[in-house]
Amino acid sequence: MIGAELKTDTYFIELEDTFGAHNYHPIPAVLERGEGIYLWDVEGKQYLDFLSAYSAVNQGHCHPRIIQALVQQASKLTLTSRAFHNNLLGEYEKYITNYFGFDKVLPMNTGVEGGETAIKLARRWGYTVKGIQENQAHIVFVEGNFWGRTMAAISSSNDPSSFAGFGPFMPGFSLVPYNNLKAIEDAFKANPNIAAFMFEPIQGEAGVVIPDAGYLTAVRELCTKYKVLMIADEVQTGLCRTGKMLACDHENVKPDILILGKALSGGTLPVSAVLSSNQIMLTIKPGEHGSTYGGNPLACAVAMEALQVLSDENLAENADAMGILFRERMTQLMQKTNLITSVRGKGLLNAIVVKPFGENKSAYDVCLMLKDNGLLAKQTHGDIIRFAPPLVITEEQIHQACDIIEKTILSIKA
Ligand SMILES: Cc1ncc(COP(=O)(O)O)c(C=O)c1O
Repeated sequence: MIGAELKTDTYFIELEDTFGAHNYHPIPAVLERGEGIYLWDVEGKQYLDFLSAYSAVNQGHCHPRIIQALVQQASKLTLTSRAFHNNLLGEYEKYITNYFGFDKVLPMNTGVEGGETAIKLARRWGYTVKGIQENQAHIVFVEGNFWGRTMAAISSSNDPSSFAGFGPFMPGFSLVPYNNLKAIEDAFKANPNIAAFMFEPIQGEAGVVIPDAGYLTAVRELCTKYKVLMIADEVQTGLCRTGKMLACDHENVKPDILILGKALSGGTLPVSAVLSSNQIMLTIKPGEHGSTYGGNPLACAVAMEALQVLSDENLAENADAMGILFRERMTQLMQKTNLITSVRGKGLLNAIVVKPFGENKSAYDVCLMLKDNGLLAKQTHGDIIRFAPPLVITEEQIHQACDIIEKTILSIKA
């Protein structure tokens, strides 16, 4: 099949299968074009995108303003490394710190690098400010967390598909159950060497798990009380996804360290950022942390435009309103079928839980059927389907998508 004249989706899938590592199990859609909330495959079929590249394309595919910023800067200067200064890094640093109300930013590329950076900052702060003995610093995470695939990230994971077979693991990490304040306080009381508590304000990969109201406020209070840094991983929940600029804004809580990624470039290139105070950020000295591409001028130009688009187009407000509409429709659908057992979400980060059906069929099979009907979504943990379209979606398009989901679900005999 490889080298075949007719380049159908089978051709491209076989190429990946033959020459690429088998570290993903994608829905078999081969995409070649995107615009707004739409994607088109190599055979010209149009889809509604209900994943947004795991919330990296909040501003919509190929947003004209972001692409213009990308192209303009790409033809001028793309990379200097941090061996030298460039004329965009400082402008971007000023812009993003003002935008989110922090003293300083440390620019990186991927989300997981943002997490690694936050942990290094917390450990360093633990030793130099909190007075923890060398090599004793401890970080508390929550069960079900997902922040990437590096050794540190999988060392803090309780999901065997993340960590099994990859040991030995990073020491100095422990887990508490999500949405359990007593467990946090018990952990903080039991160990004076805790430098940070790192968590997602809404758990994305765990299946859109929303904590009880008041959780974020109480986490903030506990962190302050026990002199533990609060690290909010908003790589997925940030940048208007949940109906506010940050998920922490739902309770007006400010973390000590904020991690952003994904939609910071509107889906054009890997751009992540770690924001914090002078006191925390300045514990890392020249030569102690960085990345060749971190803070490159291309990323700086794109990130400023991507953030400006979020504000100019009121995407938080739209995500909030469209999310309410989407969950209303899904709740109505749940009443018509026993295949869906739960509907949950905030803003446009939503999920349904699907019971197994037919002969060993699961959420993955529902995603295949949704694809055939023109909507792209991806299951997580076997029984959950996340629905996270670009935030530029309109009311009419929400109804169009809900009609497709309804038609698909009701065609299944549960
Ligand atoms: C909450 C959260 N943090 C971090 C990451 C890692 O981001 P990246 O894949 O860009 O390394 C993800 C990715 O899904 C995520 O959802």
